Amino acid sequence: MTEQTSTPVQETTSGRLIYGCMGLGGTWSDEPHDITDVETAAEAVEAAMDVGVTLFDHADIYRNGKSETVFGEVLAATPGLRERIQLQTKCGIRLNERGLETYYDLSSDAIIERVNGSLERLRTDYVDILLLHRPDPLMDPAEVAAAVGKLMAEGKVRALGVSNMSAAQIEFLQDSLETPVVANQLELSLLKRDWLESTVLVNHPGAADYSFPHGTLEYCARQGIALQAYGALARGHYTGNPPERPTLAESATAHLLSDMARERGTTREAVLLGWLMKHPAGIAPVIGTANPDRIRACAGAARVAQTMTREEWYRLWVTARGSNIP
Ligand SMILES: NC(=O)c1ccc[n+]([C@@H]2O[C@H](COP(=O)([O-])OP(=O)(O)OC[C@H]3O[C@@H](n4cnc5c(N)ncnc54)[C@H](OP(=O)(O)O)[C@@H]3O)[C@@H](O)[C@H]2O)c1
Repeated sequence: MTEQTSTPVQETTSGRLIYGCMGLGGTWSDEPHDITDVETAAEAVEAAMDVGVTLFDHADIYRNGKSETVFGEVLAATPGLRERIQLQTKCGIRLNERGLETYYDLSSDAIIERVNGSLERLRTDYVDILLLHRPDPLMDPAEVAAAVGKLMAEGKVRALGVSNMSAAQIEFLQDSLETPVVANQLELSLLKRDWLESTVLVNHPGAADYSFPHGTLEYCARQGIALQAYGALARGHYTGNPPERPTLAESATAHLLSDMARERGTTREAVLLGWLMKHPAGIAPVIGTANPDRIRACAGAARVAQTMTREEWYRLWVTARGSNIP
């Protein structure tokens, strides 16, 4: 067994950049010979570590398992790397199985089978955090607790987190668990702002436009559940990969980010992520670009978060929403 590290998982997730590995490993086809991307993965891992990343985010389904496979090859080729990083993977989504394009499966057998598959592909004995990828309406919390308990007792999983879950869903699950839920991964960004809109549109007719489960961020902050933000780079929307026909608000936001980056002598990516990290819930952006230059462009995000003024923070938000807040 690989020697255990003692870094608490909350410490490694809260308010820090996380590297999302969904872009590694080639295409989404299920052809195993399609793995051509070990070099790209190695360069991405190196760039991520250069910007201070220690936690790498996976899922069993990314590129049909190839994101984990290619990462496992990087680990095998780099002695000592596993001990310097934390690995997180997810289970619970089934793609293109038994005649269904997508369905969810958090049954005990599925959790155990999927974690064993991930460990094999990642060429490691344990993951630091296992996330339940999405809520499964057929989930039995006691069954999840038993499966995760077994994996923890075997040393294969060190901590459990969730993804795409509301406060009520986490509480329901937590009642049956023997260990605390340590993280919740949600899509949170300057582009996907429902998490923020829901906090200021309380008692406002505009609230009906937003379905974000109210109170989830506050619940996670109170319980010490680290918030991880996927889509944090808005898939380049404001930083070099604009939509074909950007709205006025989208163009204005891209310009404002460029101006703010220039004034500070930093990058647009750092300003975009720094804006997210300034939120007091301690949000950790999961950055998903495989491009080493774009990864390195995220380096100054924490510094921006420390120095961004309240007025700058609000100006970015109001510009992105395209109208004033109430
Ligand atoms: N829990 C969940 O349900 C869930 C869902 C989705 C993702 N995730 C995780 O979160 C990570 C990040 O999510 P994401 O990839 O959807 O979001 P992201 O980090 O906002 O966007 C990265 C994606 O946008 C592309 N892109 C194109 N131009 C870009 C630019 N100028 N700047 C930045 N990116 C640009 C990247 O391609 P290049 O590689 O070519 O730069 C990459 O495919 C994933 O890797 C995965 O680990 C979790």
